[in-house]
Amino acid sequence: MRKTKLIIKTKSKKYPIIIGPNVIGDINNILKFSKTYFEKALIIYDTKVPKKKLFILKKKINSNKTIVHSFKASEKNKNFKSINSILNKLFKFNFNRNDCIISLGGGITGDVSGFAASIYKRGIKFINIPTTLLAQVDSSIGGKTGVNNKYGKNLIGSFMQPDLVVSDINNLKSLPKREIICGYGEILKHSIINGYGTFNYLKKNFHKIIKLKSPFIEKAILDSCKIKKKIVEKDEKEKDLRKILNLGHSFAHAYEASLSYSKKLNHGEAVILGIKSATKFSFQNNIINKKDYNQIINHINNLNINTDLNNYFRKKDINILIKYMKSDKKNNSTKINLILIKSVGKILIKMKFNELKIRKFFARELIY
Ligand SMILES: NC(=O)c1ccc[n+]([C@@H]2O[C@H](COP(=O)([O-])OP(=O)(O)OC[C@H]3O[C@@H](n4cnc5c(N)ncnc54)[C@H](O)[C@@H]3O)[C@@H](O)[C@H]2O)c1
Repeated sequence: MRKTKLIIKTKSKKYPIIIGPNVIGDINNILKFSKTYFEKALIIYDTKVPKKKLFILKKKINSNKTIVHSFKASEKNKNFKSINSILNKLFKFNFNRNDCIISLGGGITGDVSGFAASIYKRGIKFINIPTTLLAQVDSSIGGKTGVNNKYGKNLIGSFMQPDLVVSDINNLKSLPKREIICGYGEILKHSIINGYGTFNYLKKNFHKIIKLKSPFIEKAILDSCKIKKKIVEKDEKEKDLRKILNLGHSFAHAYEASLSYSKKLNHGEAVILGIKSATKFSFQNNIINKKDYNQIINHINNLNINTDLNNYFRKKDINILIKYMKSDKKNNSTKINLILIKSVGKILIKMKFNELKIRKFFARELIY
């Protein structure tokens, strides 16, 4: 696959996403043709990304212009303390609005870096170099940034589109298999939103995609980015249509938060569980037809990860699950909004349920 360029055009900003193998090595040309200029850059570096990638980036950009801020990416570190330590470094090195933050890491690093970039002196430049599959197909696109707090996930944040996204497919080679499946969850979500064409392609090729086989992985990434592009361009600030991208997320956020963001279930896995729950809930409430229900559930079961809620929760956890579902940003105090599936390609974003209905769902799913 050669380098591909997608342009995201939102009301607030127009910026390119460059996708391809070894595109980090070509960063100088990319900066030039995308007219992304800066005097100095703070690279927020996820310490699990191979050091070699950081060296290449620093060398290409000119190491005199870069300062590195190492970051241990985890949901627990996706907090204000991490933001504060980034801001302090920006102040210490006297960054101004002609300077830039570069994120070199997955979705957590990107969300934290983007948030810091959006609030430092009311906003400095931001380049995202996503290094996980999830970040390449989802979190690096669309400008959502943020951190967690004790009340829930991503509850503090901003919308700030990046100036440039550089998705180097070679970065995925060092990812553990578990993380690849997590990214695949978002690819699957996008396909359910988009329709049978994309969904059937995944059904046929998912073994090759999760083994990062060419050209299947490239096509899956590109298709996924195009689906997200189409949605965020129409609704940048999630007034309406963009809510569609939260398919499975009300459940997912509650699962992650109830487990205190433990490694037992990371974000991508929670999303897969969440999509399964949304599909089951849709079926139990006569919203989705049997054929599509079976296809989605079978596909998720084929991923070979543990998606049975009983592995994570007991009936006694229902109260806490409901508490987190209620604290989701999308809800008012009485009803819980769920994004549900009518069929592959037809997602309902306005359905609201009272707590009892969701309690019943969990009571049915959880055996003990
Ligand atoms: N902003 C958005 O629109 C948006 C959308 C979806 C998800 N998210 C957020 O993204 C986060 C999840 O992102 P993620 O799955 O990328 O998690 P992550 O950033 O934690 O990365 C997953 C793991 O992979 C490691 N890693 C990263 N790159 C690597 C590489 N190249 N080689 C080896 N290891 C590597 C990380 O250190 C981490 O352990 C969640 O916090 C979620 O809320 C945001």
